[in-house]
Amino acid sequence: MYIQRPKGTQDLLPIDSVKRQHIEDKLRKIASLFNYKEIRTPTFEKTELFRRSIGEETDVVSKEMYSFKDDEFTLKPEMTAPVIRAYIENGLQNESPFQKLYYIANMYRHERPQAGRYREFSQFGVEAIGSNDYLVDAELISLGAKMLNEFGIGNIVFKINTIGTTEERARFLVDLKKYLNQYENKLSQDSLIRLQTNPLRILDSKTDYEIEILKNSPVLYDYLNPETKSHFDNVLNALSILEIKYEIDYRLVRGFDYYTSTTFEVLSDDLGAQNAIFGGGRYDNLVEQLGGKPAPAIGFACGLERLSMILEKNNYKFPVGEKVEYYFVTMGADAKLFSLKLMEDLRNKGIKCETDFLNRSVKSQMKEANKIDAKYVIVIGENEMKEEKFKIKNMSDSMEKIVDYADFTDYAEKNSKGK
Ligand code: HAM
Repeated sequence: MYIQRPKGTQDLLPIDSVKRQHIEDKLRKIASLFNYKEIRTPTFEKTELFRRSIGEETDVVSKEMYSFKDDEFTLKPEMTAPVIRAYIENGLQNESPFQKLYYIANMYRHERPQAGRYREFSQFGVEAIGSNDYLVDAELISLGAKMLNEFGIGNIVFKINTIGTTEERARFLVDLKKYLNQYENKLSQDSLIRLQTNPLRILDSKTDYEIEILKNSPVLYDYLNPETKSHFDNVLNALSILEIKYEIDYRLVRGFDYYTSTTFEVLSDDLGAQNAIFGGGRYDNLVEQLGGKPAPAIGFACGLERLSMILEKNNYKFPVGEKVEYYFVTMGADAKLFSLKLMEDLRNKGIKCETDFLNRSVKSQMKEANKIDAKYVIVIGENEMKEEKFKIKNMSDSMEKIVDYADFTDYAEKNSKGK
């Protein structure tokens, strides 16, 4: 019995990797267009970082972290906290008071695996640190919209909400708890626990009868101060000007404790139960909470597996990988060594080439050249080596051309550049 990969992880085979690379290249271009700069952080961090930022009572911290060495370290379940840790530790604030950072990295959460939900998954994310201007929210959301546009993803709902400041939420939570306490014997076991530990998350319930109960519950928006409301109104107005369609969802709360004010999520019908492509929001207190000089911030992250699932479903046209330009069909040991040298010369000119390493017959080698869709085939045997000339066969029209060994690399380079 062979050893299988761990549950909830994936192998990206070459055929998938080409596609993922295309997605990542495009995302990097979009991030750069908005002047976001890449940041890379370690795969694991001190466990305390996530406890202090994401929150002890959240699902991720209480159930899903991969922690080790007596709980000292944890494989990162998300990137916002590590980015802020790096921002503080490396004094990025002193370099420039406003930073736009992006990342593509693997995350780890010990969740129940299902379609679109993995234990190791990849996120593209952006974090804008240092300004609480509503224009930053709007620009960051427009980056998300651009991303969807670039990949031709139309079938989505963009949900937005504001969850206010810690103080505003605290006032709301008093009334929410009072309201929900009346339904104590109707709430699910999960919600009863949350009522004590993290009542805001109950708003996120997917159970029909709880949704019914929540219909008449207090609404967080009513507890917000005029400044918070005006920030939100300004964001919405900017989105309208940018022609970004949104739906306000007053029950949209996110799974981490660090969020403040603007929160959003983009959902797609092309995904199953795990329908969020990306999500994020403001986290104006996190920098200070993690020991930095106060700096308001906002960000979002997008799951690349989910993005890929949507693209596959929509028959997105991925570009084909670069073809092999020259395939060397060889006969005999000397010809093989000679071809190795020719390939070295070609590669020095940046030309992609390949040969046979399995001592196959000429016929099988030709078949292989066809299979990998090589553009040209060169057959090298004793005669070709003696005469120092060989035939280049164009595989698309079967035309042949004889070239001198001495002229070959120059010819190949010109031919390659001419296209
Ligand atoms: P999140 O909502 O936990 O937010 O994750 C963002 C995205 O990552 C989700 O919308 C989804 O596409 C993907 N994702 C999450 N969990 C899984 C999983 N188990 N398997 C596959 N994909 C998954 C965050 O992580 C925040 N750090 C986002 C953020 C950045 N907020 C502010 N800045």
